[in-house]
Amino acid sequence: MKILLTGAGGQVGTDLLPLLLGRGDEVAAFDIAPRPAHCPDAVQWVQGDITQAPEVNDVVRAFQPDRIFHFAAILSAKGEQIPHRAWAVNMDGTRNVLEAARQFGVAQIFYTSTIAVFGDGLPDVVGDDVPLQPTTMYGLTKVAGELLGAWYQQTYGIDFRGVRFPGLINAGIPGGGTSDYALFMYVDGLRTGAYESFVEADSKIPFMYMPDALRAVLELSDAPRSALTRNIYNIAAISPTAEEIADAVRSRIPGVNLTFKSDPVRQAILDSWPEVLDDANARADWGWAHEFDLEKMSDDLLPKVKALIGSSEGGEPVPA
Ligand code: SER
Repeated sequence: MKILLTGAGGQVGTDLLPLLLGRGDEVAAFDIAPRPAHCPDAVQWVQGDITQAPEVNDVVRAFQPDRIFHFAAILSAKGEQIPHRAWAVNMDGTRNVLEAARQFGVAQIFYTSTIAVFGDGLPDVVGDDVPLQPTTMYGLTKVAGELLGAWYQQTYGIDFRGVRFPGLINAGIPGGGTSDYALFMYVDGLRTGAYESFVEADSKIPFMYMPDALRAVLELSDAPRSALTRNIYNIAAISPTAEEIADAVRSRIPGVNLTFKSDPVRQAILDSWPEVLDDANARADWGWAHEFDLEKMSDDLLPKVKALIGSSEGGEPVPA
């Protein structure tokens, strides 16, 4: 199968590329960044701007993918700093991808949505169909992207499907998310022996370990359309408090100093998100089930973070 991956240089795309190659897919990557050193040779890397329709059209016309995995986005914290660019990337970029799919006959668009589509006034456990009242540019553009994709399916018959990711944790460098504190506890805990989280200790949102997230993408993308009752699915794994994550790190890195000092902007974003997701529809329709809880994830993650730090030249500071 031919798959075009937008945002291929980001936190999710970087880890998905080798998996796609491993299962025999032919892969093209589209990203604003140049080809990274770690990118496997088999990947066709196209550097381009998702906000520019001709550039998106060119890559889709030339590669003729069966599916586009559309991951290019500006996340919640960074989106509040550069809201107009976030609108352009998340909104115009998504329209450009859908339009290219319509013009050049791409069968399926896989969309990555987010817990940031939710906003204030949520129930304790948040299902797929609660009112969506996001408070961030990232969240509101993702709501609109969900709706736009459904409209393209209804109007032009493009198969549009996707997941709402929780905060994602992996041995990688996250980029501009509000959920990034969790990963920094592992990375800076190992690298410098200390990390001050920008949230309160009792802050609690849904998280997921990257191998589960990647499996969700592949399983939903491959599910028969007839099994699906909706376009976009909540997927859930774990909902630890920041303190519980800190305890998992402390028990594995003796002497690490993990503290909390809330940043009002990012705390407000976090407090507007669900604490716990209900993903019953994903479990019923396409058999979604997570594998990693907090302990299993921490055991698997720490050696990988160690390797990541060892491979980076002198341990460059991680963006917060
Ligand atoms: N990880 C994302 C963020 O923090 C949420 O989807 O913006």
